[in-house]
Amino acid sequence: MCGIVAYLGEKQAYPILIKGLHRLEYRGYDSSGVAIINGSMNLYKCKGKVNKLENFVKGKNISGSIGIAHTRWATHGQPNDINAHPHTSQNGKLSIIHNGIIENYGPLKEELEKRGHIFLSETDTEVLIHLIEDIQENEKLDIAESVRVALNQVIGAYAIVVISKEEDNKLIAAKKGSPLVIGIGDGEFYIASDATPIVEYTRKVVYLEDEEMAILEKGKDIVLKSISNISHTPYFQQLTMNLDALEKGGYEHFMLKEIFEQPSSVRETMRGRINIHDGIVKLGGITDYKQKLVKAKRILMIACGTSWHAGLVGEYLFEELTRIPVEVEYASEFRYRNPVITEDDVVIAISQSGETADTLAAIKMAKKKGATILGICNVVGSSIPRETDAGSYTHAGPEIGVASTKAFTSQVTILTMMALMIAREKGSITTSRYQQLVLALEQIPKQIEETLKTNDIVEAIAARYKDSRNFLYLGRGYNFPVALEGALKLKEISYIHAEGYPAAEMKHGPIALIDKDMPVVIIAPRKGNYEKVVSNIQEVKARSGKIIAVVSKGDTQVREMADHVIEIPCVEEMLVPLVATIPLQLLSYHIALMRGCNVDQPRNLAKSVTVE
Ligand code: G6P
Repeated sequence: MCGIVAYLGEKQAYPILIKGLHRLEYRGYDSSGVAIINGSMNLYKCKGKVNKLENFVKGKNISGSIGIAHTRWATHGQPNDINAHPHTSQNGKLSIIHNGIIENYGPLKEELEKRGHIFLSETDTEVLIHLIEDIQENEKLDIAESVRVALNQVIGAYAIVVISKEEDNKLIAAKKGSPLVIGIGDGEFYIASDATPIVEYTRKVVYLEDEEMAILEKGKDIVLKSISNISHTPYFQQLTMNLDALEKGGYEHFMLKEIFEQPSSVRETMRGRINIHDGIVKLGGITDYKQKLVKAKRILMIACGTSWHAGLVGEYLFEELTRIPVEVEYASEFRYRNPVITEDDVVIAISQSGETADTLAAIKMAKKKGATILGICNVVGSSIPRETDAGSYTHAGPEIGVASTKAFTSQVTILTMMALMIAREKGSITTSRYQQLVLALEQIPKQIEETLKTNDIVEAIAARYKDSRNFLYLGRGYNFPVALEGALKLKEISYIHAEGYPAAEMKHGPIALIDKDMPVVIIAPRKGNYEKVVSNIQEVKARSGKIIAVVSKGDTQVREMADHVIEIPCVEEMLVPLVATIPLQLLSYHIALMRGCNVDQPRNLAKSVTVE
């Protein structure tokens, strides 16, 4: 949700800024811009993706060693050249990039207009930079102090970087709600929304806290303070990210690479956490909270999007294995519906990015009400892990394709491990069944590898149905969330309308949609409610629907009825989502590609949703 990059040092800023924007493009890509100070403030911005900006600046003056850059996901105002960031103050001496929403920008704007300010854009961000200028001019403050005073008048979320033509040796950064990380190089500073634009230059970083600001001045040490003017000591951390993980590594798209990475990403999720010799699962991050979980009266899973689907799989897993009641909530609904939360509740927040604004807000609310909060996140050092009492990282590696794939299977893997760990501690599972499941889980990466071999079959099915206007995805039990996730993937990247449904619920509505043109994807492994799913398939066939069935290897019954089958290995019922999801990811990938869609950066979406 908007990507921010800034540089101050001896090098030329532009190449660093542009490369950084490419790395952050997953956060938003409807317009982008850059401002570099070199005597004057040179600012270039335009609608469209970062490569459009690169063409736009060709032949223009882009030299200078201090600059800021931004890639936008529009909130206030259309994506166009004028609303793109950076924005400048009225006198043109200050520039800002911003991620977040200034909620009280309306009254602030009115006030500034009365004082003669003229605004060019429709954005909240432009109001903020005019406010900073207004304070600077009226109170005769330096740029850092003007930013600090202005932020005290702001309601909302922000990650900002401000530069001033008159103090061209300084970057001023601040954050509340939206993430910001500062890289400390040798006599140089980098700032970005996440560490990916920084890691190739320095591994020494500081993550800004909420309502904290950084004053970065050439030749000096980093200065941190709260916006209420209390000085803070920086806490330096070392990045461990692998640079190769940020490249496509020979694949045509990040999404395809990430789908094919799943044998190794799931293995990474389990690494050091499963002792195969004694069959024990150990999640170090939550060991201290084991008893709290065992005694929990209720577990609440809170998440958005694909992570919410992982939470739904978690509900089936936790209730079956631990016998603790589970509720799965959309964070955006939960935070606004005055839910009943007690100190005996454990909240598990699930988020790939660790930055989703609704999930973060829901956590803060549940925390206030006394619940214990655990996190399942992928991005190390992100906001949610810092806001929770404890948690487990998924360690799936950076996920860059906007549509989530490997993050989902890693989240489900962690949830499986958590449920097993609690069940064992609670005694709600026999030792032999526990060990059987641990061994089965350990085999999953190999079985994902095998499942990936269906790629060609899936591609052929994609070619047959790429022009369909609707898709229905059906599954029961553990595979109902898989159906939801399959439908979401297709919607996100191919723009085909798709719905996921519990298979038996089809007859209460969606069956009306079925005709000869309607492809119905059914997850029908030889486990659980197999016979019931077979009846659901017959119901579709009776109405001439086209069946694409995901079946267990060797299945014959469904094969006879289905138009197409995709075979997955036979695994424990509760582990089926980890393999059955794979062909559905591939199906949406191929369909999107055949329809000429931008697979990695689908329209209107952003990977990290840091606004409500
Ligand atoms: C956005 C992304 C989805 C993601 C959701 C939740 O909508 O496009 O892919 O599932 O946010 O994100 P999180 O980072 O909290 O898992």
